[in-house]
Amino acid sequence: MSKRVLTTESGAPVADNQNSATAGVGGPLLLQDQHLLEKLARFNRERIPERVVHARGSGAYGYFEVTDDVTAYTKADFLGEVGKRTDLFLRFSTVADSLGGADAVRDPRGFAVKFYTEEGNYDLVGNNTPVFFIKDPIKFPDFIHSQKRDPFTGKQEPDNVWDFWAHAPEATHQITWLMGDRGIPASYRHMNGYGSHTYQWTNAQGEAFFVKYHFKTNQGIRCLSSDQAAEVVGKDANSHQTDLLQAIERGVNPSWTLYVQIMPAHEAADYRFNPFDLTKVWPHADYPLQRVGRLVLDRNPDNVFAEVEQAAFSPNNFVPGIGPSPDKMLQGRLFAYADAHRYRLGVNHTQLPVNAPKAAVADNYGRDGLMATRNGSRHDKNYEPNSYSGPAQTDAALSAPLAVAGYTGTHAAPSHVKDDDFFQAGELYRLMSAEEKSRLVANIAGGLSQVSREDVIEKNLAHFHAADPDYGKRVEEAVRALRED
Ligand code: HEM
Repeated sequence: MSKRVLTTESGAPVADNQNSATAGVGGPLLLQDQHLLEKLARFNRERIPERVVHARGSGAYGYFEVTDDVTAYTKADFLGEVGKRTDLFLRFSTVADSLGGADAVRDPRGFAVKFYTEEGNYDLVGNNTPVFFIKDPIKFPDFIHSQKRDPFTGKQEPDNVWDFWAHAPEATHQITWLMGDRGIPASYRHMNGYGSHTYQWTNAQGEAFFVKYHFKTNQGIRCLSSDQAAEVVGKDANSHQTDLLQAIERGVNPSWTLYVQIMPAHEAADYRFNPFDLTKVWPHADYPLQRVGRLVLDRNPDNVFAEVEQAAFSPNNFVPGIGPSPDKMLQGRLFAYADAHRYRLGVNHTQLPVNAPKAAVADNYGRDGLMATRNGSRHDKNYEPNSYSGPAQTDAALSAPLAVAGYTGTHAAPSHVKDDDFFQAGELYRLMSAEEKSRLVANIAGGLSQVSREDVIEKNLAHFHAADPDYGKRVEEAVRALRED
């Protein structure tokens, strides 16, 4: 094999990679040293904006295999036949910290899947929690500001975290989840993934269903206590990355079983709470889990920057048979992600190998822009309609229409029989064992007791009282005890 030659970016051989060119021995540098200029300039441009949330993550390739017939509910081609396999890329993440943050922290985990289907890429951008902190996207930037670093102190502040929650009673359910045992997964392999939102499926007859996705880990759930996590972070801040990378390199391929809850569309309006409220789960007694298939991860990316950092998932990337529900949060996300990608990666991010369709071809009249690599054939027209043989619309509905009624306005959620913000937090608390309750209370009190304002503490305590009197009483006692210390 011929020896590999070090070259400049334009492919010319480099004579010396150890000594810069100078005017005489010990003299100043020469502007004509192209290799030096290029090397320094390129280095300065290695970083791109990190994701504004979910900056720290790990990814892997794999496949999804259908195990159960769901064609009665969706016409999505990649779910259309038992045994059908679809390639995918999955990125896991933590939410609040920056790119260099530690993995084993108390934080939700992202669970973002890109299915490379024959009808285009389908992105399901979920979390390891079935619910979320808020239910209106207009609150999202404020929420995230309160959880990330304070602009003055430069670090996460319990004052900000709990002040936001004091004003967000709807967060009580997710806080109960996050502060409980599942709040720190032991690894990405040992946690579930959820679509969290309600999505809409449409079958070949045009009938609509609302669905919630649950990816159950086949590795079993494993979590860390706060003390265990602190120890893990001290030893290996990249513990989740290490675990995922090494498992797949060893051929121990992690897998998840996908289940869905399915609600016929006509049942939504009269359901006892708003089924599009992201702060609530659907009880399995009402809508049982139905198995769909198996997700397997079996290949690590070759290059973390190219494939994981540049991966771009958008909840608005649907395929025929799958669409959005009227969930306001989901609707807000339909805009936010591709906008972030255009800022972070540029308008042609969909042409990067990890993001480009693999089993389908992107064929449209979008053209040019920074870093365009996709060229039409030399005879292609760049307008439509045209009299030539360019791509044309199908006229086939992608998903069933959503019914709407009433007037435009900044409405609070539609009213259902049981729409308070606390009952599911209380139900979750009452499901916990005595030991789990004690750990939950200790974790909440550990954070809440650090808050400087008494009124912020009071407002938060009122939420736990409203969820369950015993829950409220115990958190209050624990907070008071810590503050008296
Ligand atoms: C990442 C916005 C709620 C899961 C992001 C990013 C933005 C964003 C801008 C960075 C995207 C990028 O640069 O590639 C929002 C807004 C939300 C919201 C505006 C509420 C209105 C949620 C919810 C979930 C979620 C409810 C889960 C159910 C994720 C995940 C990522 C992410 C998993 C990382 C995707 C990846 O691995 O690249 N979000 N988000 N987000 N978000 Fe959200």
